[in-house]
Amino acid sequence: MSQVPHHIAIVMDGNGRWATRRFLPRVAGHKKGVDALRACVRHCGERGVKVLTVFAFSSENWNRPPEEVSGLMDLLAVALAREVPNLHADGVRLHFIGERMGLSDKVRAGLEQAEAATAGNQRLQLNVCFNYGGRWDIAQAAAWLAAQGVPINEGSLDRAMALAHVADPDLLIRTGGEERLSNFLLWQAAYSELYFSDKLWPEFDEAALDAAIADYSARERRFGKTSDQLPARASQRAA
Ligand code: IPE
Ligand code: IPE
Ligand code: MG
Repeated sequence: MSQVPHHIAIVMDGNGRWATRRFLPRVAGHKKGVDALRACVRHCGERGVKVLTVFAFSSENWNRPPEEVSGLMDLLAVALAREVPNLHADGVRLHFIGERMGLSDKVRAGLEQAEAATAGNQRLQLNVCFNYGGRWDIAQAAAWLAAQGVPINEGSLDRAMALAHVADPDLLIRTGGEERLSNFLLWQAAYSELYFSDKLWPEFDEAALDAAIADYSARERRFGKTSDQLPARASQRAA
């Protein structure tokens, strides 16, 4: 029986390549990516994962062609309208993480409504990182503390970060074959187990998620200690 991570974070990469291989526009890949996310959220809930944090649009993704950027903004608005009632029915609490200033009034209002509508849910927390960058998060936390006159240290920064409402991710998955963080969760992933999949995000199905969870269960998380200091090892030795 696999040990299920409390918090899974995912860089949902590979939508563009999925579409290009099928001679489709890149935005078609992003639409398929929403389908994959819907299935992933459902499966995480079934498996008992309590927090899922996904990277949907990075601070750097503004540098993409304007039609792709506007396609992604439209898709967010459509996905909100379509998905939120079902997420709510499934007990999912939504949080949007990232800089909201650059977003249109319509998108911003949609994010706020979705958060308010699902605020009482407890089965699974879904953090959608949109217009998010790990460097932005560290900088905004430091700026906020400085403005309040609060001393800056690890504890105060941690509490001022955009993901302060959840524990750090246990497992960080990146699909699409690239092995980098691309400015995702720079602070919070300090001790996450990393898992890279060659599958493109639209193809990352329930079986692929289960494989990632099984791989995670076999890892030994030492947090700087030695193997011998860990409780599981100590009890194995005693047996
Ligand atoms: C990830 O898929 C989704 C976003 C960045 C919005 P990509 O669009 O980066 O897909 P590839 O990497 O080009 O295949
Ligand atoms: C990271 O993917 C961002 C998201 C998945 C939203 P990118 O495709 O933008 O990352 P790079 O550019 O390959 O590093
Ligand atoms: Mg990519």
